[in-house]
Amino acid sequence: MEQRQLIDLLNDMSLEEKAGQLFQVTGDWFDGTEALEQTGPEAEETARIRRRYGHLAGSVLGVYGAANIKRIQSAYMERQPHHIPLLFMLDIINGYKTIYPIPLAQGAMFDPEFAGDCAAMAAKEGAAGGLHVTFSPMVDLVRDARWGRVMESTGEDVYLNSLYAKAMVEGYQRPQGGTDSLASCVKHFAGYGAPEGGREYQTMELSEETFHEFYLPAYESAVKAGSRMVMTAFQTVNGIPATVNRELLRGILRGEMGFDGVLISDYAAIGETVIHGVSEDRADAARRALEAGVDIDMMSGVYPEYLAGLVKNGTLDEMLLDESVLRVLELKNWLGLFEDPFHGADEAREARTSLCEEHRKLAYEAAVKSFVLLKNEDAVLPLSPKQKIAFIGPYTDSQDMLGSWSFTGGAETGAVKTIRAAAEEALAGWSVTYHTGCPVLAPGTVLEGFERYKPCGAPQEETDRWREEARKAAEEADVVVMPLGEHCFQSGEAASRAFIEIPEIQQDLFRAVSEVNPNVVAVVFSGRPLDLRVISERARAVLSVWMPGMEGGRAIIDVLTGTRAPSGKLPMSFPYCVGQVPVHYDSLMTGRPYRKGKQERYVSRYQDIPADPLYFFGYGLTYTSMELSEVRLSKHELTPGEEIEASVTIKNTGKREGTETVQLYLRDVTGNTARPVKQLKGLKRITLQPGEEAKVAFSIGEDQLKFFQKPGLWDSEAGAFLVFIGTDSRTEHSALFWLKKQEASENT
Ligand code: IFM
Repeated sequence: MEQRQLIDLLNDMSLEEKAGQLFQVTGDWFDGTEALEQTGPEAEETARIRRRYGHLAGSVLGVYGAANIKRIQSAYMERQPHHIPLLFMLDIINGYKTIYPIPLAQGAMFDPEFAGDCAAMAAKEGAAGGLHVTFSPMVDLVRDARWGRVMESTGEDVYLNSLYAKAMVEGYQRPQGGTDSLASCVKHFAGYGAPEGGREYQTMELSEETFHEFYLPAYESAVKAGSRMVMTAFQTVNGIPATVNRELLRGILRGEMGFDGVLISDYAAIGETVIHGVSEDRADAARRALEAGVDIDMMSGVYPEYLAGLVKNGTLDEMLLDESVLRVLELKNWLGLFEDPFHGADEAREARTSLCEEHRKLAYEAAVKSFVLLKNEDAVLPLSPKQKIAFIGPYTDSQDMLGSWSFTGGAETGAVKTIRAAAEEALAGWSVTYHTGCPVLAPGTVLEGFERYKPCGAPQEETDRWREEARKAAEEADVVVMPLGEHCFQSGEAASRAFIEIPEIQQDLFRAVSEVNPNVVAVVFSGRPLDLRVISERARAVLSVWMPGMEGGRAIIDVLTGTRAPSGKLPMSFPYCVGQVPVHYDSLMTGRPYRKGKQERYVSRYQDIPADPLYFFGYGLTYTSMELSEVRLSKHELTPGEEIEASVTIKNTGKREGTETVQLYLRDVTGNTARPVKQLKGLKRITLQPGEEAKVAFSIGEDQLKFFQKPGLWDSEAGAFLVFIGTDSRTEHSALFWLKKQEASENT
């Protein structure tokens, strides 16, 4: 449709119809469809509103499947006064039918382009299944492992997150607006990843500098990559709920970042600003949200209930309403819905694309790339066919490795191969036994709010029997592989935890097994960094596999046996224990830094635990060894507009092929404010054969040296900079250069 026609359409709509376009309901309004669970204190109210105004809604969430969506769309368009099609949106977080690793695991690939390919694959399947928009990527920066949603982030680093944000948006929207793509909705604007105490939905309090320099850039990267939608955050930003925060939404998002797409609230979040104690009542909430720039009200129902009246009584400018409606119509037009309201949704195409060979291969590759080898004492891994191996642990034969957002695909399709099933296929001729050992959670455990999804425990009698069998098997084995970890609903939304350990019942099993057989390889499943002290101390090898997706079983077996090698790197520090969080590698320099190995009292440390995390950002072993040369610089002075080449030679000194991620970090030695100890500014993955060496080079320009000075101004400061190049954030391989500027910027 031409823009002119969209405007004509808008001008022909009644106020009520316009407000309807800005209202999103869950699919259960359209009988017989699946819907997301209704939650939150306003559940009853939103249910009432939905019953009353659902027929006017301009978009739907929580419905999927080509047949379903086509039926709803056809029926709706017949009734809609201007036959305007609905938009169908859903959380496609790590795959539609083919489920690949959770976003945090994708972060561990240190390969944004590959994540982009995964997103493109998810979009292709989702679009065939009738969807138009995915509520992804979540680009919130995370530093606190207690927060359950760290699983949906790509980690603690602003540079890495920004690369992923761009690649994932471009992946979902590839080709732009085409029937193989989805519109991407970046979330949650802004600062949702920094809730106080790691507690879900809690307020965040960040300095202006920290907010701008670390938390906002990934959103900006997504916006610049052309994300068609943005979702607001639930929590307050500087005391004002993000959803009605005009300065944040109109000022920063639309003004500074130039976002001109559709802005949607999170679920019922506009209505909840009354509970925040900021909006006086629901009508006030509707006014504030629209004035702040929120186009779509997800599930509060305050827009259809109040917007028309607010315009009629002169409280609200109709221009604002029109602006928002036009943005929604433009999105529908971008997707081509006025010409093809099904956007290519088709049952046959859905069946053909979903879980096809090509997609499963991609999911397998993603899983292999995402595993992080945390420990490998005496090269206990890879396993050898000569060994007698016992798999002991609740994830040995479990399909629950898809993560908490995988409801559209996965287990019910029967497509998930467990570790055991994969081993039975791949390890013919090996001596292997399999034992559950214990359930993921102790018998009787209830994960509140998640009861309807899966029973979490197992009967006590079975648990006792399993445990006994496990002990015997461990005694008889040469090596014990223990697939352990969190329950898949112990991370995700509303899954904050104060103790971030492997469930107690599994730790007991681990202790019992490692007492009788010290040759334990722990395979750790999790949606967050865990406190792995006990495991890490006693196991001879530790492999973090996150929630690896439906090809996880095969990928784990191939990595354990050396058919493939691990190459993942931690996108988030694993704290020593929960007392350290929030913990991240790029903290500001303190005047009294802790120095490892020194007995100093008045330095930044704890009395009772180490100052360092157990495993730090960027860390991850391979099955080979690599040596890096000193850092070489093409010159030692940089002026704006020029570049320095920083390089190392890396050599595979081991006996196997290996893939290493070479990482470039910079430190601004002196700034007008304290600067981070180090900041990641470049990464390159390289695969080398035994004995092979290669040069890895990075360009450094002034842009990489700039940092937030004040709203709207990022600038560099003349002076000394340290360049570190290594294979993790602890690298001390460095060289120094100077940034020379004609005259200091007037703003610094
Ligand atoms: O997209 C999600 C959001 O991340 C959290 N609340 C519900 C939304 C829709 O499912």
